[in-house]
Amino acid sequence: MSLENILVVGKDSKAQQLARPFTEQLFAADDTDDTWQMIESVQPHLILIGSGISHKKLCSFLQTREEKSIDTPVVIIGDSDSAQYIDQLISLGAYDYLEGKGRHQQLAEVIEKIKHNGSGTDNDNKRYFSEGCPSSVSIVGRSDSTIKALKMIRLVAQSSCNPVLIVGETGTGKELAARAVHILRHGADKKFVAINCAALTANLLESELFGHVKGSFTSADREKTGLLELAADGSIFLDEINIMPVELQAKLLRVLQEKTFRKVGGINEIDCKATIIASSNKNLAKQVKRGTFRSDLYYRLAICPIALAPLRAESRKEDILLLAEYFLKNSAVCPEKAGKIEGLTKLAAQALEKYHWPGNIRELRNVIERAMLLETTNKIGLSNLVMNPEQFAQGTDEPASAGLKDFSLERAEKELIAKALNEAGWQKTRAATMLGITRATLYAKVKQYNIRQPLAHNAAHATA
Ligand SMILES: Nc1ncnc2c1ncn2[C@@H]1O[C@H](COP(=O)(O)OP(=O)(O)OP(=O)(O)O)[C@@H](O)[C@H]1O
Ligand SMILES: [Mg+2]
Repeated sequence: MSLENILVVGKDSKAQQLARPFTEQLFAADDTDDTWQMIESVQPHLILIGSGISHKKLCSFLQTREEKSIDTPVVIIGDSDSAQYIDQLISLGAYDYLEGKGRHQQLAEVIEKIKHNGSGTDNDNKRYFSEGCPSSVSIVGRSDSTIKALKMIRLVAQSSCNPVLIVGETGTGKELAARAVHILRHGADKKFVAINCAALTANLLESELFGHVKGSFTSADREKTGLLELAADGSIFLDEINIMPVELQAKLLRVLQEKTFRKVGGINEIDCKATIIASSNKNLAKQVKRGTFRSDLYYRLAICPIALAPLRAESRKEDILLLAEYFLKNSAVCPEKAGKIEGLTKLAAQALEKYHWPGNIRELRNVIERAMLLETTNKIGLSNLVMNPEQFAQGTDEPASAGLKDFSLERAEKELIAKALNEAGWQKTRAATMLGITRATLYAKVKQYNIRQPLAHNAAHATA
């Protein structure tokens, strides 16, 4: 088993000897810095890096390869690296790490794997991503809008722009984009800490962000490290910054300007080295006009905003079916059906394309996962696409009109069980079979979610 061409990097002559039996053409570069042009002209099927290149250089090589979207597998030969170093190289995209004895056999196995899997990445999954999508980032979509957003993500990540602002409606992928910026800028081994500004009161949010010293307020019985400090030289994600209380906005602005902050009640200045990534699902400029968001903070944040279009936008519509298929193939919610359901019927696909997707990608994923649970054939049909879950939420205590935030898995499960029970005429054994769960589990879920039988069904049973 051999590959057409292999590029060996480094001055390690043993690496060249090792590679020679496995290729028709062997290319060599002395150092990782000399490889890029060669990779472009030779298009190697494998990059084999010999020992003797520093860990730091290897990491930066793998990062640049990622940024340049080069998917040639990289195999590293090493001697004495710690498990932690090896993990880091693998997390940065190295295909394998050969160590110890029996390297010939190890390389033979790696090459067999590469031949078997194409370039080493899942070829089938590849079609869901645009060419500009780095392999460490799972942002599905090939629409103009997604390509533009990915370009912006890469540009921002490569720059030193800090803070970074990501805007888009709910469910458009802001957190995913934030993680992508983080990975491309800092690598996977650096910390990414997230906090939702809408979920906490002003005081709690302040102490979560900045930390506090012991005794700074009544319940501060010990010192606390804030997230800005915990993020260290990684990233902190301030989700829904549009809801941040105005008094905290001033404090955040100071951090952005001075790059230092103080704990609540503290006097020492602490350096802030982290990349601050903020997201907003509302138009911040409008909020500035309304006086609920500070204009100086807005201008500071909006230097290079990454905008994510809603799914219904003409420029992103093309992603709908691609995302639907991706969720069908990769969903973890129903692993026994993944692979068995081949796709969508034509009518179902048309319905997905026509829908306005107020909850965007999160809603689409929930619709697909719900349909997978309900579907008994090998294609998702129109009848199992429930775009508006309220329609089968009767019989529960939930208010009829639920907000967009209610597209949670838990809610979906509750609605699914209610639907199955309704369809099975409240015969629990049948409903349990439809759902693929035991009667006992069904009873437990009905109790947990307080699902009650609608009156019409009660009446039907009473007269039966
Ligand atoms: N392009 C995409 N490819 C694959 N999955 C995606 C994509 N965009 C979003 N998702 C998935 O959709 C869900 C919602 O994405 P995310 O949480 O990033 O959205 P959001 O904009 O932060 O939403 P919200 O405003 O409600 O917080 C997540 O499960 C995410 O993994
Ligand atoms: Mg979010």
